[in-house]
Amino acid sequence: MQNTKIFFNSYAYDFNALYGTQKNPVNFILNPILRKSMKLRFEKTMQYTHPVVGKTVLDVGCGPGHYSIRLARNGAGAVTGIDFSEEMIGIAQKKAKENNLNDICSFVVNDVFEYQPEKKFDYTVVMGVMDYIDNPEDMIKRIIELTRLKAFFSFPKAGGVLAWQRKLRYRERCPLYLYTRNELEELFSKFKSHHYLIEKISRDFFVTLTI
Ligand SMILES: C[S@@+](CC[C@H](N)C(=O)[O-])C[C@H]1O[C@@H](n2cnc3c(N)ncnc32)[C@H](O)[C@@H]1O
Repeated sequence: MQNTKIFFNSYAYDFNALYGTQKNPVNFILNPILRKSMKLRFEKTMQYTHPVVGKTVLDVGCGPGHYSIRLARNGAGAVTGIDFSEEMIGIAQKKAKENNLNDICSFVVNDVFEYQPEKKFDYTVVMGVMDYIDNPEDMIKRIIELTRLKAFFSFPKAGGVLAWQRKLRYRERCPLYLYTRNELEELFSKFKSHHYLIEKISRDFFVTLTI
């Protein structure tokens, strides 16, 4: 976990550049397939949270805040982004200020397992985060505790050359966890009282959990 935090603190600027909002050399060597998954899960989150008007949203592992900002723009009543990387939160706060969304978006530096909000959130968004979580069952329990209506997760898909290549790349960075559909079925079936939907999107699975 400490390695993951250290990695994301050092990677914050380049990760933000993956969204293509900055002129950065990283943009030129981007893996187009990686960006396809990122784009698809972003669009699906916006589609499934629509209409978000007046809703409260928790953006777990918010990184540079792209989801938080868009949800606030789409009319969310309040969005809280949480991330244990100070660097990521710094970028997200700057972005919210530039977009005049400081009154809607707030950002917290914390581990989601430590976070104690006063109220549950209508929606919780967990995008690009399960890749780095060593105890997915505990994480899902935590998200259920924090959520009132629905939670949305992405899980990176195991198998294939690209997954293998990504595993290799992350050897020096931080632990990385990949999933098959069967593993996800097994994981979510432990939460019997909650309906779940698993959809394959490019290199990810997109999971909607109804609380
Ligand atoms: C790949 S980034 C995804 C950022 C954003 N959700 C997106 O898709 O644009 C993953 C983020 O999760 C954060 N993260 C991982 N585990 C976390 C935890 N236990 N608590 C808070 N943040 C965490 C990392 O610091 C990193 O910024």
